[in-house]
Amino acid sequence: MTRTSLAVVLAAGEATRMKSSRSKVLHSVGNLPLIAHVTRAAASAGVSKVALVIGRDGEAVTEAARSGHNVVVTPVEQTERKGTGHAVLAARDIIAEGFDDIVVLYGDAPLIDPASLSAAAAERVRGADVVVLGFQAADPTGYGRLIEQDGELVAIREHKEASAEELAIDFCNGGIITFSGAQAISLLEAIGNDNLKGEYYLTDIVEIARARGLRCVAVKAPEEDMMGCNTRAELAEIEQVWQARARHAAMVSGVSMVDPSSVFLSHDTELGHDVMIEPNVWFGPGVRVGPGAVIHGFSHIEGAEIGAGAQIGPFARLRPGTDLAEKSKVGNFCEIKQAKVGAGAKINHLSYVGDAIVGPGSNIGAGTITCNYDGQNKHLTEIGANAFIGSNSSLVAPVRVGDGAYVGSGSVVTADVPDDALAIARAPQQTKPGRAHRLREKIAAIKALRKSGPGESGQ
Ligand code: UD1
Ligand code: MG
Repeated sequence: MTRTSLAVVLAAGEATRMKSSRSKVLHSVGNLPLIAHVTRAAASAGVSKVALVIGRDGEAVTEAARSGHNVVVTPVEQTERKGTGHAVLAARDIIAEGFDDIVVLYGDAPLIDPASLSAAAAERVRGADVVVLGFQAADPTGYGRLIEQDGELVAIREHKEASAEELAIDFCNGGIITFSGAQAISLLEAIGNDNLKGEYYLTDIVEIARARGLRCVAVKAPEEDMMGCNTRAELAEIEQVWQARARHAAMVSGVSMVDPSSVFLSHDTELGHDVMIEPNVWFGPGVRVGPGAVIHGFSHIEGAEIGAGAQIGPFARLRPGTDLAEKSKVGNFCEIKQAKVGAGAKINHLSYVGDAIVGPGSNIGAGTITCNYDGQNKHLTEIGANAFIGSNSSLVAPVRVGDGAYVGSGSVVTADVPDDALAIARAPQQTKPGRAHRLREKIAAIKALRKSGPGESGQ
């Protein structure tokens, strides 16, 4: 029979040091809220249910915690903040439903690797009653120290309560504790608050369990996995670690990056093999890039589907709803939004293509603008296959340019152009031989008159 486990995710913190108007677990890393990283990690480690301990912004935190996985998340409120032991007991009714394992996680520590959770679960299977994920701290200040004897964990001593000898220990509590579901409520209820902070320390569970003859062990995990977020500076550090991991994973899967440190990925960025990314590229949420596409430098991309072998940028902006077919090209200083661009079509310079369909093989000249908005509504521009739009044209939507049609440069197209037609919609040129010379003379004469004239300020 498979084991059942309940993740109790603590997210009721005040987070005063974030100086934010919203809960800190709603702040994002890789464009995904911290809390969603945690619940997704729990889900992929196979937990059966999540009890989410909430304080402020409960509804938004719960919604974020539910996204991207199928595990049931039930919010429970911790009205007073009396410590981690007290916070876990807010989930008492759910714990009482009966699970083999209870796993306590922090909602503000998003880098946890599901493999570490599985390693802790494996210790439970081997018979440990309490399993603590620990790490070797570069600077242990502030952390609970893990005190071990003969391969077993005998106590967790909070920094404030530790003796000089205990403070010298650098093996620390990362905060993730897995324990027996059968013993959970009785162990949690035995935790008191007779300590320097007057808080119910979850960490006391170790000594309480030992006193009952239960077995406790510590499992070591990388320090990075345990990073928690208390300040904006820590949020940025966590982002750095997350980005480094995401870039590494992308490169392992066959993506090339000239300068990985300048490429920003989102949690859901999908990059095919042989995609090549130049420096300074930003991927917002919802981007998928097909094999062999090239993303030139300084491109800003979100909500976009980029086909195989397409070329983007440099300095391209792809906004949500962009769908570029294979081998299409979007060049410098182009903005594309809510537009489907056919295979091999080219939008190479200085264009805005929004609310549009561009057929395969079409060429959109420099400076083409789809005038999609009339101040109240958005309208569609349709361009057929193998059409040619001359430079500096405005296509006033709703409008259709047919297959193989040709639009002369500088046109303002307000009516449909049939297949294979040539449309020129601009003032006809007037050319007057010799007039340039006469014009120059006239201007010079006016200038001279101004200089010599009485009472002139000569500006
Ligand atoms: C806790 C551990 C410490 C460990 C450290 C790792 C205890 C007593 N100490 O200390 O051993 O080294 O984490 O980072 O557990 N929270 C609530 N409600 C509460 C109290 C806390 O939801 O009433 C949440 C916080 O928002 C936070 C987490 O629990 O996400 C940990 O609380 P925090 O106050 O940061 O604990 P530490 O003192 O850092
Ligand atoms: Mg903390």
